[in-house]
Amino acid sequence: MRRSYLMSPPEHFVVEYAINPWMDTNTAVDTELAVKQWEGLRETLVRLGHEVHVLTPEIGLPDMVYAANGAFSVDGVVYGARFKYPQRMAEAAAHRRFYDTLGWRFVTPSETNEGEGDFTYLPAALGGLVLAGHGFRTEVAAHAEAQEALGRPVVSLRLIDPRFYHLDVALAPLDDENVAYYPGAFSESSRRVLRQLFPSAIIATEDDTLAFGLNLVSDGHNVVLSSEATALAVRLREAGYTPVPVELTELKKGGGSVKCCVAELRG
Ligand code: ARG
Repeated sequence: MRRSYLMSPPEHFVVEYAINPWMDTNTAVDTELAVKQWEGLRETLVRLGHEVHVLTPEIGLPDMVYAANGAFSVDGVVYGARFKYPQRMAEAAAHRRFYDTLGWRFVTPSETNEGEGDFTYLPAALGGLVLAGHGFRTEVAAHAEAQEALGRPVVSLRLIDPRFYHLDVALAPLDDENVAYYPGAFSESSRRVLRQLFPSAIIATEDDTLAFGLNLVSDGHNVVLSSEATALAVRLREAGYTPVPVELTELKKGGGSVKCCVAELRG
């Protein structure tokens, strides 16, 4: 099935503030290389048959390349983002303008939430299930707000490891009903919830998770993921998926990889 995505090129990408443990303002960023690697990701998604919309990057918003954080959409309804840190707040308006051009219903959030960074959707689990992370960025109150906005059950999962500060670095949908995740990123109770909901999930290692392997984009068959997550790629292939490795080393310096750069547009 053809998917629709939104991406924003890292033309203005630098690390000039640190809002997660991966960011170090002393690290030099090769912006040209970042753009080249980003272009490789975009071309990969297009080659797999998907549609990629491009959001114009803005000067002064270096993290805009992490387009997944700008909103969360389900069946043509968009629950907008409200960023935790002031450095990123202005990104939400750029995403809103994009959804307005699509004519989708946009629900303005009152609660802090970072879009697909902390929300994901499984259309075939319980007839349509939202998973939502909290603990570092998105507030639990936003989970309830998203449930009201989208009319889908939202399951709250608590993240406990600051290195895995967004849900999308700790858990990924592989198809319409199954996920891969790293248990160590979640509270004991949330782990139990995940075992109950997804008894046949693929369990990632800490190394794969640190390599941003779970920050992947799957179309149900092809799984685009960081080339550094080699063990996870093997596990995915054994499970019948086709891993498609891409190199995104520059964007790791901001604390993100494949999924962070890609917002899914669920029309
Ligand atoms: N530097 C960004 C931040 O800390 C990285 C965002 C990564 N995005 C994601 N979807 N996990 O906000």
